[in-house]
Amino acid sequence: MKALFFLTLIYLMVASPRSALYAGDAWLAYGDIRGYIEPCGCDPKTDLGGVRRIAQIVQLERLNHKNLLVFDLGNVFVSSEKHNTENELKNKFLLSAIAGIRPSAILFNHLEDVNFAESDLLRKAANSLALPYVLSNPSEAIKKLNISKPYLALKEGLIFGYLEKTSVVSARTSHQDKQLFMEWNSIKEKFKDKPTFLLYSGSDKTLDYLLRNSAFSYVIRSNKNSFTHAAGKEERENEGLLKSRINSKDIYAVPLAGQGVLRGGVLRQQVALPLQQILAQVPLTPAKDKVPQETSIIPGLSGETVFSWLEPSFNEGAPLEELLKDYYKMQKSSFSKSQEERKAQLKDSPYLGAIVCQGCHEAAYKSWQKSKHHTALFTLQAKDKHEVLECVICHSLGADKKGGFVSLEKSPQFAHVQCESCHGPRKDHVKNPVKPKSKKTLLEFKPICETCHNPTHSPDFSFEVYWQRIKHGN
Ligand code: HEC
Ligand code: HEC
Ligand code: HEC
Ligand code: HEC
Repeated sequence: MKALFFLTLIYLMVASPRSALYAGDAWLAYGDIRGYIEPCGCDPKTDLGGVRRIAQIVQLERLNHKNLLVFDLGNVFVSSEKHNTENELKNKFLLSAIAGIRPSAILFNHLEDVNFAESDLLRKAANSLALPYVLSNPSEAIKKLNISKPYLALKEGLIFGYLEKTSVVSARTSHQDKQLFMEWNSIKEKFKDKPTFLLYSGSDKTLDYLLRNSAFSYVIRSNKNSFTHAAGKEERENEGLLKSRINSKDIYAVPLAGQGVLRGGVLRQQVALPLQQILAQVPLTPAKDKVPQETSIIPGLSGETVFSWLEPSFNEGAPLEELLKDYYKMQKSSFSKSQEERKAQLKDSPYLGAIVCQGCHEAAYKSWQKSKHHTALFTLQAKDKHEVLECVICHSLGADKKGGFVSLEKSPQFAHVQCESCHGPRKDHVKNPVKPKSKKTLLEFKPICETCHNPTHSPDFSFEVYWQRIKHGN
């Protein structure tokens, strides 16, 4: 889950000496979807776009460029450990969705969950859906999966991939490196007429080293740092800072964080047309005042345009609709399947629900009733997401714990954010309601709020400001 908060930037680097644009050369790159399918709606400012919109953008661009190269820079999936069934379901969907997007090449990303990257699920899907993983330096584990090719020679270009991650890739010796450079050079020699692409995930230092020994027409890079900031916020606000972090003058820092696509080759110059015309006619989902309204064109160092925000949301004719419908159906059915078991746990629940507290804590109850916490599950219901575990865990009480929320019908007392979401289970307290020896200080509640008010779902959260809005006795 933590990996979800890491930001990705993909930036484009044109290796020196700057190569001329290749005729007909058009490419798109996306990455770091981090399991986001479409915006959750918690706060439009951290709208992560999601795989649905990426599919739409790719489809649009393909209408204009038949030979479009599309690069997937990885970290698309969620960890396969937490909320196991749900995540597995999601990863299965994402694998089919990626297959539907039809990227020309996929790179493993250094933030990729190792369990997933080395999983049987990935192996099976990659083989049956023919996902084009490319990696010139696979680890033993990735080699065993037998899914990645050392390079891809496509009509439009020659593609290599390089991943630096200590836990995935064993440390390389200079001997291995020399061999890799020789391999790269001999392959390049064989396909002389093609532009060369290096998809890269790892540190600056290694990239510098690689580029001192081998040249490429384009280097497309993902994931430099792991940020704790809200997704996209830092890049949007301070592109200069990002650039200065990157220790080379010929690099474009492109804000991405799953929120945009990188456009290169001829697309770089055509960014305004016709995609933007189409976008202008498309109603935006999030509140208008909160998100950039145009497909932002962020100039690179030499004034070129390289990046698009993912603003469009089409409701009809979008490429993943059938898949999505199936996925949402399965998500719901997995939720309802788990209900019988969870219902049985209700009789030993450590929770009580706010009604029970009301009698003795009238003031706190009244304040809670006035807050949106009191209706948080209805917010989901209005979007038909009240039976989706990944949403419900924050919009109700203890949905991921034994004896917690089951469903609106089976446990209405645990719907919404409850007293016990902040105060912990209180069954024992009511049996013996005495003054505790030591009471939590106000500030000790801050990390509790932040389990839900995290940078992705509540980017403006400030404990002082938010508590004032809902404090007891208000
Ligand atoms: C990590 C916890 C968390 C998860 C997971 C989560 N939410 Fe939220 N959601 C919040 C918080 C916190 C807020 C309030 C944000 C604020 O006002 O700062 C919120 C607000 C919202 C709102 C806006 C309500 C308003 O008044 O404008 C919607 C809609 C929403 N969530 C839907 C969803 C959906 C749909 C999902 C699942 C895809 C989801 N949420 C998953 C924590 C979460
Ligand atoms: C039968 C009456 C009664 C009920 C019902 C009751 N409480 Fe209390 N509660 C008390 C008493 C008495 C105290 C101690 C008063 C004091 O701190 O001066 C207390 C203290 C507290 C405190 C502050 C001290 C601490 O333990 O952190 C919290 C929080 C609290 N209750 C939450 C709840 C919640 C949540 C519920 C419902 C699940 C609840 N109470 C139900 C009587 C009750
Ligand atoms: C279990 C998850 C959860 C916890 C814990 C939580 N919140 Fe929230 N909070 C939410 C959700 C979800 C919403 C959005 C509800 C909606 O709009 O439907 C929200 C909305 C809010 C709002 C805006 C709504 C309003 O009534 O104006 C404030 C303020 C807020 N929370 C403050 C806090 C503070 C302060 C804490 C900690 C003391 C906290 N929350 C703990 C989930 C949580
Ligand atoms: C969003 C988190 C949150 C929710 C929901 C919440 N509380 Fe609290 N509650 C707090 C915080 C924070 C304090 C500490 C206030 C302080 O120290 O000034 C507190 C304090 C208390 C106290 C101690 C006395 C007081 O008022 O300072 C009681 C009793 C209490 N809450 C009961 C409840 C009950 C009952 C509910 C549900 C009806 C509830 N709380 C819902 C966060 C919450």
